[in-house]
Amino acid sequence: MSSPPARPAEGPSRESPAEGERTSSLEAHALVRAFGPIRAVDGVSFELLPGELLTVFGPNGAGKSTLLNLLAGALQPSEGEIRMGGRLRSHGEVEWRQQVGILSHQTFLYGHLTAEENLRFYGRLFGVDQIEDRIHERLSAVEMDHRKDDLVRTFSRGMRQRLSLARALLHDPAIVLLDEPYTGLDVHAAALLRDLLSSLKDGRRTVVLVTHDLTQGLDLADRVAIQVRGRFEFFGSSVELPSGPPDAFYRSVVEGVLGGAGGAP
Ligand SMILES: Nc1ncnc2c1ncn2[C@@H]1O[C@H](COP(=O)(O)OP(=O)(O)OP(=O)(O)O)[C@@H](O)[C@H]1O
Ligand SMILES: [Mg+2]
Repeated sequence: MSSPPARPAEGPSRESPAEGERTSSLEAHALVRAFGPIRAVDGVSFELLPGELLTVFGPNGAGKSTLLNLLAGALQPSEGEIRMGGRLRSHGEVEWRQQVGILSHQTFLYGHLTAEENLRFYGRLFGVDQIEDRIHERLSAVEMDHRKDDLVRTFSRGMRQRLSLARALLHDPAIVLLDEPYTGLDVHAAALLRDLLSSLKDGRRTVVLVTHDLTQGLDLADRVAIQVRGRFEFFGSSVELPSGPPDAFYRSVVEGVLGGAGGAP
């Protein structure tokens, strides 16, 4: 596991990074998102440094996907704030969306377009340079280049997931948000994804990964959160996890809030 990079200096300089500086620290402060009476995200705060990977675990309905959508700028927080590279982000900002790549429960793919056409569409949307080279590179990385001319509606679930991953990473985002990225992937593709995630840890990028798989989630994590009923009931460095089987710790945290109904991650 790589050691975390040094913390950036505190102070006003964090408010206004130098022009063109590519920083990707990610902060949430007292973040809340309510849907009527449900506080799907209920007072979440954390800080990630550029290069860090946070894995968020939690039971169904804990608010993990809602949190990722808030971090992506796709949902407006009810309360709290999000900062990237020290800068306060406001909902709907184009620049914010350009710096974020999200793989979510929705694929955001168009079934009536081919794999290549889908990526070209998103590449233009994000103003990607040397778009054709990038499309080729990303399709190869997920081993989908041989299906580039096929319509997405003819793809299997795992193939859509691979293409979604290529879409999420197309514009080389500084913040990468992955919601259950292993879903539907075969053993080979899961290994590909693991390598891809490992290559994303190049020190420039911040990654938030949501998964129900403790082994895959802990593999590359620098920081770990366990979200239950909207709150981070545990947040810490992966080396701070107590010794012993991680599933026992996970269950004790979840059952501490939900009682015996905590269940598997
Ligand atoms: N658009 C919405 N409208 C109303 N309620 C919502 C909406 N989105 C999420 N919720 C509610 O917010 C809570 C958290 O949902 P969320 O999808 O974030 O959970 P999750 O942790 O990602 O769960 P899972 O592990 O099943 O994917 C749930 O109670 C859900 O019903
Ligand atoms: Mg979810």
